[in-house]
Amino acid sequence: MNLKSCLAALTTALLACRAAADPAITIHADQPGAAINPAMWGAFFEDINFGADGGLYAELVKNRGFEFPDPLMGWTKISPSLAKGELSVRTDGPFDAKNPHYVRLQSAGSAPFGLSNEGFRGMGVTRDETYDFSARVRLVDGNPTLRLQLYGGDGSLLDSVDVTNLAGGWQKYTAVLHPNDTDPKARLAVLVLGSGTVDVDFISLFPRHTWKNRPGGLRADMVQALADLHPGFLRFPGGCIVEGSVLERRYQWKNTIGPVEERPLLINRWNYEFLHRPTPDYFQSFGLGFFEFFQMCEDIGSQPLPILNCGMACQFNSGELCPVDQLEPYIQDALDLIEFANGPVDSVWGAKRAALGHPEPFHLKLLGVGNEQWGQQYIDRYTKFAAAIKAKYPEVQLVSAAGPDPGDKRFKFAWAKLRELHADIIDEHCYAKPEWFFENTHRYDKYDRTGPKVFMGEYAAQSVAIVSTKNRNTLQCALSEAAYLTGLERNGDVVRMASYAPLYANTEAWQWTPDLIWVDSLNVCRTANYYVQQLYSCNRGDVVLPVNCDGVTRSSAGAESLYASATRDNTAGEIILKVVNPGAAAATVGIHLDGVAQVDPAAIATVVTGHSSDDFNTINHKEKVTPVTSQLDNAAANFSYPFAPRSVTVLRIKAH
Ligand code: AHR
Repeated sequence: MNLKSCLAALTTALLACRAAADPAITIHADQPGAAINPAMWGAFFEDINFGADGGLYAELVKNRGFEFPDPLMGWTKISPSLAKGELSVRTDGPFDAKNPHYVRLQSAGSAPFGLSNEGFRGMGVTRDETYDFSARVRLVDGNPTLRLQLYGGDGSLLDSVDVTNLAGGWQKYTAVLHPNDTDPKARLAVLVLGSGTVDVDFISLFPRHTWKNRPGGLRADMVQALADLHPGFLRFPGGCIVEGSVLERRYQWKNTIGPVEERPLLINRWNYEFLHRPTPDYFQSFGLGFFEFFQMCEDIGSQPLPILNCGMACQFNSGELCPVDQLEPYIQDALDLIEFANGPVDSVWGAKRAALGHPEPFHLKLLGVGNEQWGQQYIDRYTKFAAAIKAKYPEVQLVSAAGPDPGDKRFKFAWAKLRELHADIIDEHCYAKPEWFFENTHRYDKYDRTGPKVFMGEYAAQSVAIVSTKNRNTLQCALSEAAYLTGLERNGDVVRMASYAPLYANTEAWQWTPDLIWVDSLNVCRTANYYVQQLYSCNRGDVVLPVNCDGVTRSSAGAESLYASATRDNTAGEIILKVVNPGAAAATVGIHLDGVAQVDPAAIATVVTGHSSDDFNTINHKEKVTPVTSQLDNAAANFSYPFAPRSVTVLRIKAH
């Protein structure tokens, strides 16, 4: 033995001794366990907090079709003192009977007269970007010009363009605006110049630059943030929004496809759900509809997971039920949705998909029956849905509900019944304090391995309490979620999918906090919780590796001083170790890779941490908690690593 190998052997021996005192993690690399679902870490989208209109859907004009119950909500009459004109809302002879309201502008011509739109708490416009205006216009009399203007929040003119030669009869007019400045609170004005009468409707303004530059598409920065999560699946469109406060207001996917001007407007249930956060201007235009959801899933490589109403309105609201013997239209919606997604182009619904420009199937494999339902009423309805869907599409895996709590009576009842029914996947929800997440990392160790699989479909640590407006996306919450996810990962044979909820929130129009991604009209802020999700989805691995943690302390409630899980990435030939150190001090931990023949000393560490467990990112301070990646050069079969205080760390170690 030469000196070098003597020293190496001594170091290894010393590390092993030290590990006896300090915490030590042993990864049994030669004992691979369950295969991790490639779609394990996903995302949950709901149109809450202005998630769709005023969020992902890039339309800048609010109430573009004048179909809100107050047809002029979001609009202001512009009538300078010299202007003599009249603005009226009418319904006679609309451009589309499905969009009956429009505005008539009658101007005496003494000064420009018209109306302006405030956008979704201001229109975010960027200097020199291109904005596409369109509207349906009908000249009634005279020969006026239509002037379109973008104004900044301070009233400065950002751009102006005239549309001339207006014709009688409804026509679609388009124009392009280029603001000369960036402004988060711009407004769009539509003015009549010269004397005459003009009818206007469906006034729209979109950034030219949208996700994949699709006209009338989605906000590119918001989809990019989602895409960067690499979600294995995308659950949509909710959430309680699926259920509606009453059945008439439930989400009906068939109303969300086809021409946007024909998609019937619906009041958003989050408009009035919380008395402490009323949002009277929150409606669903369905510009982001089911076709767009499927398309987005395809774009970002996520499995679509639509959730459909099962004949039950929200049980926190009316709890209205469709009688079991009248469920047929609901069930038919589910069958038709599968055909819409997967059916051949000569099927009724497959043809509709093809007509929308997507002859290829969307490969729908998962479908949710009801959102957060509970009780025998749910079981009765689920049974009917499952029978009909499985008879026609046995390959589609059904996600069933277990109520809003991860362990109450409703939950236990649902699990017992759904187990008897051999349900495929049960959707568990949990909004609780960070302590709960820290204390329940072994929850799934005890689950029956032969029953239904688990979808941890909605979860988020609440820094104060569920539905408290004081909840923040703190580092502490993110760490507790990271700790909890080690338990999900270790039990990858039972827990097949997981998603944080909700996904997006507009800083000026939210109802629910915390949320994974915060946005304003121009910016996107990724939270500490986002980075935890991203660490998991980007470091999934293919197979679970058993892990032993020694020297770890445990509170009587189950909180631990250190949490760990490991997987193996077969393609990269890497062991992926995830460690959460919730403590205020660094933890130097001995890491032992059992059953490896060779380890590359160069490994990659990605760490999410911050200065204080109360740290959280905001639009103005986006980087209080962000991932930092570095390389280490001492990886070995036995080595030690100093896990930073208040951190979640992913180590990727190449090993044979
Ligand atoms: O994520 C917010 C809400 O929480 C969802 O709409 C609902 O399913 C749950 O109660």
